[in-house]
Amino acid sequence: MNLFDLTGKVALVTGASRGIGKEIAVGLAKVGVEVLIVSRTKASDVVAEIESFGGKAHAFSCDLGNREQRQNLFNEVMASIGKVDILVNNAGIQKRFNSEDFPLEEWDELLEVNTTGVFHLCQLFGKEMLKEGYGKIVNMASVISFQGGIKIPAYAASKAAVMNFSKTLSNEWASKGININCIAPGYIATDMNDALINDNERNQQILDRLPAKRWGKASDMVGAVIFLSSAASDYINGHTIMVDGGWMGR
Ligand SMILES: NC(=O)c1ccc[n+]([C@@H]2O[C@H](COP(=O)([O-])OP(=O)(O)OC[C@H]3O[C@@H](n4cnc5c(N)ncnc54)[C@H](O)[C@@H]3O)[C@@H](O)[C@H]2O)c1
Repeated sequence: MNLFDLTGKVALVTGASRGIGKEIAVGLAKVGVEVLIVSRTKASDVVAEIESFGGKAHAFSCDLGNREQRQNLFNEVMASIGKVDILVNNAGIQKRFNSEDFPLEEWDELLEVNTTGVFHLCQLFGKEMLKEGYGKIVNMASVISFQGGIKIPAYAASKAAVMNFSKTLSNEWASKGININCIAPGYIATDMNDALINDNERNQQILDRLPAKRWGKASDMVGAVIFLSSAASDYINGHTIMVDGGWMGR
């Protein structure tokens, strides 16, 4: 038995038009998973890339910051595909302001996408997984689930919340065939971190502190997602795996 075999499974990956989500979608498709690519506008380019190597993918559009659109996404996926075995809540946004000036509208918008949206999709698809008695949920946390960061109070709140409510869901669902775990990426070179990468001083501080001495690549997340989606992790529940080049060990 191949503990990592995912052939024939269906995975939904949010925020899969670029960055970490795209690499996760492509990586899952390469090991035989049928992937549902969710992004604000349909990512036909990612579907085409997956189909070019013989993989299976479908694009769905959804503004994950909108409650009605999240419900519509669920309805559309269930009507057209019929099941989701693996849910990867990857989409997330970042907003940077000095905390004393952090606009509350920005706070609300970030929390709706990064926290409430993730919980809502866990609820919608989790209910179906409970009926099946099977499911794997991987939520994207962050090293900022453990640390405060600088100028990112809303993001820090959102990622700590995701990590903690994932434990609540795990406590309720682990005995019912559902594994729910998180991945905590460290500093990964994607569009989200342009501001840090382009700030020479912050960039150098980050590299100096990082044991791996390099920024992570989006593709560095794929192995952990495959692990948490497969039978290899059947007895891992409510856990958060750091994929951070050693950052949290310092
Ligand atoms: N890059 C890092 O260093 C890092 C570190 C820790 C955690 N993370 C987390 O990893 C995840 C992916 O980040 P990334 O670096 O690839 O970021 P990114 O900005 O490159 O990609 C984010 C993705 O989410 C999508 N998205 C954002 N808001 C959306 C919305 N309202 N509706 C639909 N899609 C939406 C974007 O379109 C994009 O596809 C996020 O949850 C992020 O918080 C990233």
